[in-house]
Amino acid sequence: SKHYAVFGHPIAHSLSPRIHAAFARQTGIDLDYRAIDAPHERFQTLLAEFAAAGGAGANVTLPLKEQAAALCVRLSERARRAGAVNTLVRVAEGWEGDNTDGSGLVRDLTGRQGLDLRARRTLLLGAGGAARGVAPALLDAGIGDLFIVNRTPERADALADALGQPGRVHPRYWDDIGELGTFDLIVNATSAGRGNAFPALPVKLLGVRAAAVDLSYGEAAIPFLAWARAAGAHDCIDGLGMLVEQAADSFERWHGVRPETDPVYEALRARDD
Ligand code: ATR
Repeated sequence: SKHYAVFGHPIAHSLSPRIHAAFARQTGIDLDYRAIDAPHERFQTLLAEFAAAGGAGANVTLPLKEQAAALCVRLSERARRAGAVNTLVRVAEGWEGDNTDGSGLVRDLTGRQGLDLRARRTLLLGAGGAARGVAPALLDAGIGDLFIVNRTPERADALADALGQPGRVHPRYWDDIGELGTFDLIVNATSAGRGNAFPALPVKLLGVRAAAVDLSYGEAAIPFLAWARAAGAHDCIDGLGMLVEQAADSFERWHGVRPETDPVYEALRARDD
């Protein structure tokens, strides 16, 4: 069987091995897919070992998505725009990098969740690998203006520059968040929920039919979505659907077959509730 893996830190609770095993059963493809714990300083070595052992493809999750982009011999157009990689494909010269986070998020929001993203005034919290992965796809999906705030303002500036649409994309200081007006879509792409230290946000950020989306799922999504629910958000959406959709895009990239995501999503959701 062919070897696949997901690299991240921490990674023990990743659902990706289960998702890819379910896709493999569904499509009758023989593969193994495991989770490999890789802190920044060990990632390059562990990835080289995985390649030497016959690894054919890998997913990359936080906090390694930007480092992964730097390790690739080639990047897809969307990975280059994002400056972040979540999908690695083994080619003769090394690793080719792709990014399916953005397409996965947009498919979940517009398909499964039934949201119309067009012209939504959007606030993106965070400017790390997760934020970089989804920002280009959100712009392509037709959102309105995109405001980016990040604890470290230089990273918000760098992401806004990389997106290359200065009339539409606006980096702002986190401390000025109360003066940005209201939003129709707020996306939490910070990892703050993992530490349970989610920074307080003003209630008035949410417009009347606003959707609040956390890119993480499970415990990590609780602080932001609890705020959004209490603040009266019309839709509160965690990252489980995006996780399954980005996995399907990676699976298709590796195996040339598109798996059905709904049964896998429903099974994970039932277990989560
Ligand atoms: P990921 O791949 O999940 O984006 P990352 O590149 O390490 O991982 O980025 C984590 C994001 O969460 C960053 O935007 C980070 O802000 P900084 O760039 O200032 O580090 C943000 N973040 C992490 N902890 C946070 C906290 N307690 N409050 C606000 N933002 C936080």
